[in-house]
Amino acid sequence: MKIIVTGGAGYIGSHTVVELFKAGFEPIIVDNMCNTDIRNIEGIKKILKKDLKWYNIDCSNSQQLATLFEKEKNIIGVIHFAAYKSVEESVRLPEKYFKNNIGSLEVLLEQMKQFNINNIVFSSSCTVYGSPDILPVNEDAPFKKAESPYGESKQVCENILQKSDIASVSLRYFNPIGSHDTGLIGDCSADKPANLVPIICEVAKGVREKLIVNGDDYNTIDGTCVRDYIHVVDLAKSHVKALNYLLTNSGKLVFNIGTGSGLSVLEAIFAFEQANKMKINYSIGPRRKGDVEEIYSDTNKVTKLLDWEPEISVEKAMLDAWNWELRKNKI
Ligand code: NAD
Ligand code: WQD
Repeated sequence: MKIIVTGGAGYIGSHTVVELFKAGFEPIIVDNMCNTDIRNIEGIKKILKKDLKWYNIDCSNSQQLATLFEKEKNIIGVIHFAAYKSVEESVRLPEKYFKNNIGSLEVLLEQMKQFNINNIVFSSSCTVYGSPDILPVNEDAPFKKAESPYGESKQVCENILQKSDIASVSLRYFNPIGSHDTGLIGDCSADKPANLVPIICEVAKGVREKLIVNGDDYNTIDGTCVRDYIHVVDLAKSHVKALNYLLTNSGKLVFNIGTGSGLSVLEAIFAFEQANKMKINYSIGPRRKGDVEEIYSDTNKVTKLLDWEPEISVEKAMLDAWNWELRKNKI
């Protein structure tokens, strides 16, 4: 069964392509390579020991998509990862984010309709919740005013999907970390790392002198912000479950994809240190503007309806993150 995976050469997309193959699907990658590297495609081939189809196509280009859908017959669905993801850049260049993140979904849905492709799994984010009133946060929590144009783009995309005729599952990822066990695929994004675990890895490697912890005066277990860190392979597997659900049930659904447990920044540093038997140089700095104090997912709905549960520990995720950091420039 052919599945189009937009952004399939990226961080989460490449891991999902591997899991789709393993589950018996035929994923076809569509990626304009604006924020990744060909080595992820080579890495997928090495992991699976087989070739795969991929197209260098921009998802916001309707003609390119139409040509693809004419050529590749019998596509049963699309998993749409393609988007820009830097929160900081989205604040500086909001139009860039609205155009690519919202524009590409609109163009894609239009072409899917033309070619009678009726299922889409969409990459959303826990950022749609802003700072939730109730923890763990469940899927019924309201959208808060977005902290960034990036967050706003995800809220708008989910609303577009709710109004569309096409059946959809929006997966609200919490904080994806780690990499494939083989170290052959990972985050190849051109952006300077801004997320906690890639920054910890850079400190471990000596690329950065130290990690600045963004505030320790929050109302949390140790004063630092709390997040729900999910291994990217567990996250990838949730897409296979979502797709199977759509193929048998249809509808318009949203699911949280997290572990259900929160980890503070200090706990995350400690988990990395324990897993990799290293010390991380850090100091406490000021709060980061717009940071949510604490967020972690209620996973009841996804466990019940998709029969998906995370299986990989945070320590293993930290090992795999470090393995990727060591290998990423050598592949
Ligand atoms: P990524 O940048 O590694 O992957 C996105 C891929 O899409 C890249 O390979 C890029 O080249 C491609 N792309 C972007 N615009 C495109 C376009 N117009 N046409 C074709 N290809 C295009 O990012 P990721 O971390 O794998 O994220 C995947 C999705 O998950 C994104 O939608 C992102 O917003 C969402 N998400 C990511 C996180 C995270 O922390 N990584 C968290 C929540 C949600
Ligand atoms: C985690 C915690 C930081 C760096 C972002 C996006 C969100 C989603 C996931 C896509 C926070 C702290 C970090 C550092 C630190 N992406 N930190 N020192 O903020 O939960 O979410 O990525 O949808 O939209 O906003 O993740 O990894 O940036 O931060 O203390 O040098 O680590 O303040 O508390 P975040 P993060």
